[in-house]
Amino acid sequence: VNGRTPLLAGNWKMNLDHLQAIAFVQKLAWSLADAKHDFDSAEVAVFPPYTDLRSVQTLVSADKLPIAFGAQDLSVHDSGAYTGEISGAFLAQLDCTYVIIGHSERRTLHGETDEVVAAKTKAALRHGLVPVVCVGETAEDLEKHGPSAVPVAQLRAALDGLAEGSEIVVAYEPVWAIGSGQAATPEQAEQVAAALRPVIAEILGADAAAATRILYGGSVKAANIAGFMREPNVDGALIGGASLDLDEFSSIVRFQK
Ligand code: G3P
Repeated sequence: VNGRTPLLAGNWKMNLDHLQAIAFVQKLAWSLADAKHDFDSAEVAVFPPYTDLRSVQTLVSADKLPIAFGAQDLSVHDSGAYTGEISGAFLAQLDCTYVIIGHSERRTLHGETDEVVAAKTKAALRHGLVPVVCVGETAEDLEKHGPSAVPVAQLRAALDGLAEGSEIVVAYEPVWAIGSGQAATPEQAEQVAAALRPVIAEILGADAAAATRILYGGSVKAANIAGFMREPNVDGALIGGASLDLDEFSSIVRFQK
């Protein structure tokens, strides 16, 4: 037992409008309340689009639902003339606990560099949000540099300059496994997670490293979650496609090791 509460988080990406979000979160809450299962030890979170956050906040706070939530991105800036941007201050005001930073789709489709990812990580912490820092290698990286080199370098860059003891979550998402139906094996996920933890220790200190949850993401579904959760350094999952299917996501969060 390592004392880390597993985190099972759904990244909705650009799916579910605010009406669909309300229906989904309500049904998810019913499913969690259906008490015969043992998910108490896991934290459940959703990452809806920005436009859903107010609705999700209202629902979660009115009914005190055991569902955490966060945004999928934030601005490096705190306020000002940045058309189209959303600041960490706004997200904190909406009771977001988390914010995803540096998802591979942001890195590849929106040109986010390691420097941008580091600045966003700092922006999140400045506003009391827990950054979920995403790292992961492409198939080409894997072939050229082996399994851990790129994720380790990305994490080192993202955490550069952070204060010791900062609270973060790390998500290891191999790009080749995202949306491909071809998940990494639990052993592959463990190998990288085990290489990432010392980087956290080096920058944030040993206590923070021991407390930090490292998630695996990439084609996670009900049928493969248990294998990942059995690995000592894998503390949960960041789930894309399968998080949009209520039955599938409900089964994932009720995983049995
Ligand atoms: O952030 C989660 C994601 O990138 C994984 O997506 O659809 O492979 O579960 P998916």
